[in-house]
Amino acid sequence: MPTKTDRKLRSQEWYSGQAYENYARRAWLRAEGFPGDVFQNKPVIGICNSWSELNNCNAHLRIVAEAVKRGVWAAGGVPLEFPTISLGEMFMKPTTMLYRNLMAMDVEESIRANPIDGVVLLCGCDKTTPAQLMGAASADIPAIVVPGGPMLSGQWKDRKLGSGTDGRKLFDLFRTGRLTEEEWSEIEGGLSRSAGHCTVMGTASTMTSIAEALGMTLTGCANIPAADSRRLAIAELSGRRIVDLVWEDLRPSHIMTRQALENAVTVDMAIGGSTNAVVHLIAIAGRLGIPLDLPDFDTISRRTPWIANVKPSGEFLMEDFYYAGGLPAVMKEILHLLHADAMTVTGKTMRENLERAECHRREVIRTAAEPLHREGGTVVLYGNLAPDGAVLKQTAASARLLQHRGRAYVFENYAQMRAEIDREDLPIDKDTVLVMKNCGPKGAPGFPEWGHIPMPKALLDRNVDDVVRISDARMSGTSFGTVVLHVAPEAAVGGPLNAVRTGDEIELDVAARRLELHVPATEIAQRLSAFRPAPPQYTRGYGRLFLEHVTQANLGCDFDFLSK
Ligand code: FES
Repeated sequence: MPTKTDRKLRSQEWYSGQAYENYARRAWLRAEGFPGDVFQNKPVIGICNSWSELNNCNAHLRIVAEAVKRGVWAAGGVPLEFPTISLGEMFMKPTTMLYRNLMAMDVEESIRANPIDGVVLLCGCDKTTPAQLMGAASADIPAIVVPGGPMLSGQWKDRKLGSGTDGRKLFDLFRTGRLTEEEWSEIEGGLSRSAGHCTVMGTASTMTSIAEALGMTLTGCANIPAADSRRLAIAELSGRRIVDLVWEDLRPSHIMTRQALENAVTVDMAIGGSTNAVVHLIAIAGRLGIPLDLPDFDTISRRTPWIANVKPSGEFLMEDFYYAGGLPAVMKEILHLLHADAMTVTGKTMRENLERAECHRREVIRTAAEPLHREGGTVVLYGNLAPDGAVLKQTAASARLLQHRGRAYVFENYAQMRAEIDREDLPIDKDTVLVMKNCGPKGAPGFPEWGHIPMPKALLDRNVDDVVRISDARMSGTSFGTVVLHVAPEAAVGGPLNAVRTGDEIELDVAARRLELHVPATEIAQRLSAFRPAPPQYTRGYGRLFLEHVTQANLGCDFDFLSK
C-alpha cells in the first residue's frame, strides 16, 4: 500500500509545479480563503451533492455535507463540495428515469474534470443513488456513498403511514368516497414529515441498501433516518474514511466486483426490494464491464429467502427496520448466501464488517430459517409476450393471481388508460388482465413508473383490490399488486405487446416464470407485421440523445456508449 509520502496525488497534477497554470489554480482556489499549505499533497475530497430544494428527499444534504467536511479535515484532507443535477422523484416530468443517465454523466464528468483525489457521494431519492454509483464506477477514483436516510414515518391520527404505499391505498378510499376531503388533507400533511427519502422499501431504500451491500458505504450507513443525529455522525466518519481510501487507492472497480454485484442482488431479494433495482444494477454492472443479466436475478431469487418485513411487501417502515438492526442484521442472517470475503470501503471484508451486527426485533427481520417467503422478492418472467424478459415483485402480489389465466383489456397507451380507468361501464371483471402499451424506455419515452395501473373504479366498487396488470413501464418501489413490468422488447420498438388485443387470453404462471399470450404464433406474427414505429417525441437536445442511445430494460437502460 502506498504511504502518504511516496505517492503523488491526482490533484497535484493541477496544483503542484511552477508553471503559470499551477500558480493560477492555487491562486484561484485561495480566493475561497484557503491558506497556501492546503496544496501540500493533501487528499482533495470532492463532496458530490445532489442537494436540491426541488428534491425534498435530498433537501438536508447540505447539512450532511458539513458533517462530511468535518471528517475530511480531521483526517488531513481538503473537502470541496460541488453540485450536480438532482432528480426529485415527485416533481420531474415526464419521469426522473429520463434523466438518470444525464445525472450519471454529470457525476462522472464532474469527477473526471476536477482536481479531486476521492469523492463522497451524497444521495437519497430514487435515481440519485444509481446515477452516482454509475458515474463513480466510470470515473473510478476512490469513492464512498453517504445516503441521506429515510424520512420519519408518516403519521395520521394513531396510524403510521408509509409513503406511496399507504398513500395509494388511502387515495383509493378517497376516490371511492370513503374518506372526506378534510381527512384527505390531514393525510397529505402527515405523509412526509421530514427530509429524507420514502419510508418504505421503495426504490430509494432499496438502492441505498444496495450501495451498502455493494460495499460502497460504511457499515450500517444506509438505513439511519435522515432526522437521526447518527446520520451526521456516520457522515463525519465517512469523511474521515475517504481520506484513507485515497491513500490506499481503493477504487470502485476494486469494490464493485462480480461478487459484490451478486451480494447486492442477494440483498435485494432478501429485503423484498424494488423492481427498479434490476434495471439500475444491470446499468452499474455495465459501467464496470461486468456481465449481469436477468437470469442472474432469477437464479439468486430462487435461493434467497425474503426476510425483511417492510412495506410495500411487508408490514413495517424503514424507521422500524433501522431500529430492528437494519441492513447489517439482514446481511448477517444471510451471510451463507453472500460472498463474505468481498472487500468494502471500510478496508475490511463484508464478514468482518458484520461481526457485531444483531437483530433486535424478529417481527421485522426474520431468520433465514423462518422467512416471510422462501424465495426473494423479484422474479423474472419469459414467454412469447416477453422474449427478453419481464419482472414481477411476487412478495407484493396477490397469492390468488400468481397462477392466472384471463382475458386482456388493452390500453394502447397511458393517455387512454387515464381516460378510461374510472369508467363505471368498463367491461372488466376480477379475472381481467389489464395490458398497457407504449410506456417503455423509448415509448413513453423515459420508462416512467406508470406500470402500477390504478385499480379501475368499477372493480374497487365491487371490493376487488387487485388484478393482473402487464406493461412495458416501471413501477414505483412503493407500489404493490400483481404487476408485470419491464416487458422487453417494449411495444415502441415492435415488441410482442403490440400483438395483444382486448379479449385475448393471457397466462401468468409465476412458479414456472412464464408469461404467455394464448394466440397462435402465425396470428401473432401477422399482427406484428403491421407494426410501424411512431415518430420520435424528441427531435433535438437531450431527449433526442436519449431516444437514439437508450438500451432496453433487460440491458439496464443506460446509453449504449456509456457501458464498457
Ligand atoms: Fe424521493 Fe420517494 S420521492 S424517495
